[in-house]
Amino acid sequence: MKRNRKSLLLSLLTLMMVATLFAACGNSNSGNTAEGNNAPADKPANTAPADEPAGKKIVVGFAQIGAESGWRDAETASIKDTFGNDPAFELKFSDAQQKQENQIKAIRSFIAQKVDAIGLAPVVESGWETVLKEAKDAGIPVFLLDRGITAGNEDLYTSFIGSDFILEGENAAKWMLDEFGADAQVNIVQLEGTVGASAANDRKKGFEDAIAGNAGYKIVYSQTGDFTRAKGKEVMEAYLKKDKNIQVVYAHNDDMALGAIQAIEEAGLKPGTDIKIIGVDGVKGAFEAIAEGKMNVTVECNPLLGPQLKQAILDYQAGKELPKWIKSEEDVYFGQKAIDALPNRQY
Ligand code: AHR
Repeated sequence: MKRNRKSLLLSLLTLMMVATLFAACGNSNSGNTAEGNNAPADKPANTAPADEPAGKKIVVGFAQIGAESGWRDAETASIKDTFGNDPAFELKFSDAQQKQENQIKAIRSFIAQKVDAIGLAPVVESGWETVLKEAKDAGIPVFLLDRGITAGNEDLYTSFIGSDFILEGENAAKWMLDEFGADAQVNIVQLEGTVGASAANDRKKGFEDAIAGNAGYKIVYSQTGDFTRAKGKEVMEAYLKKDKNIQVVYAHNDDMALGAIQAIEEAGLKPGTDIKIIGVDGVKGAFEAIAEGKMNVTVECNPLLGPQLKQAILDYQAGKELPKWIKSEEDVYFGQKAIDALPNRQY
């Protein structure tokens, strides 16, 4: 009898232990989360801090050209602001100091880090096939920003986001033809952008094609100023020492135009009056120069591309079909229109 009671007690104890074990198992199943079974009991599964969305961040590598112009600085700021202010993204930013080899290195490093998307502002048009193929083989989408690459390589990138540089060149020529008239005699100095850059090649082509039928319009000198103010000034200074009989300076960006303005003033001429000044970009400095009468026109080129890049990456991730070219909306500013727009210029 004593023995029976003892074994009954033992069985009861065993039963209680088994029940406790089952209950514990039930709890650990409901806590089988990304944090494993060690999740604190008071923290719900998969919870991210209030300012962070649940799940993995979208990692974007951006290979920037450098900081050669006010326009470039505005583009960099737009990218850093867009991705830096969105907790769903992580941005890896690289500044190539104007060197294609540095951009290629940056892209290879993004591939090694298995980023989710790559943004590239190609300093020149050619020489991207190998590295872009490597990105493609790794399954990483590449978005070209602001400048394009050699035609025929469209399968190596997802979308190009940016301006129509040929149209910008045509718009610059149109302003000049309207200003002087089709039959005028006009000597032009062209300050070209970085050699081999799509922005330089296309702005030159658009402008030169547009004046081709007007015999009086002559490009008397065309030289690179590398998209910088210092080189724009240097090229202009050197030319003015040989020849002052010019009516127009067409600069492929505003920074070079502003450099040329300084050189013209130092040579004792009045920029905006003696020599008409045409720039491209639409940076604040150009609007100020127009308001002061030292510059005549700026053809806008929008650098605030961060939001469009972000939307393209989100659309790509959502499996949406993307256009090959996501074009920027742009305008041409001169005279009173430029003066009125100055207070609201963002860059
Ligand atoms: O690719 C766009 C051009 O690059 C801008 O016109 C110029 O300012 C910049 O450096």
